[in-house]
Amino acid sequence: MTRRKFMLASGVMAGIAAVAPRVLGAEKPEKQGGTKLSRFGDVVVPQEHEGKEKHVPYIQAPAKVKAGEPFMVTVIVGKDVPHPNLIEHHIKWIQVYAKEEGERPVVHVGTFDLGPTYAQPNVTVPVILKKSSTLYAIEYCNIHGVWDNSVKVVVE
Ligand SMILES: [Fe+2]
Repeated sequence: MTRRKFMLASGVMAGIAAVAPRVLGAEKPEKQGGTKLSRFGDVVVPQEHEGKEKHVPYIQAPAKVKAGEPFMVTVIVGKDVPHPNLIEHHIKWIQVYAKEEGERPVVHVGTFDLGPTYAQPNVTVPVILKKSSTLYAIEYCNIHGVWDNSVKVVVE
């Protein structure tokens, strides 16, 4: 029996054929494993799911700024109703992104990794924009997941 005939008879080739498309990248990423690929946006909690503990990040930024001049952006989680800040339930991190109008991709502005009980989920970062943009804030509660918000800033 030749090596090829042995492999065909034993089913080894069938196994290789089943694995090869994934290894070679022939299978489309959105169908890996035979199921549609989930997107990160799918796990962001919709704002309308807000409960008594406030998770939607409040973004404090001027509505209009001058091109190239720094301004302060503050993100607060629990502005009106404080979110718990305990080891077992706290805001772990806050991230800020900016996206200029048009086709440019979103850019990372800052990440704030917060320690429970000592750090408050209230962060401020100086920002410089060249064009009108949307600022995004996302935050992670270790119990209730990822929440987001956005504001537009016009650059004059
Ligand atoms: Fe929470």
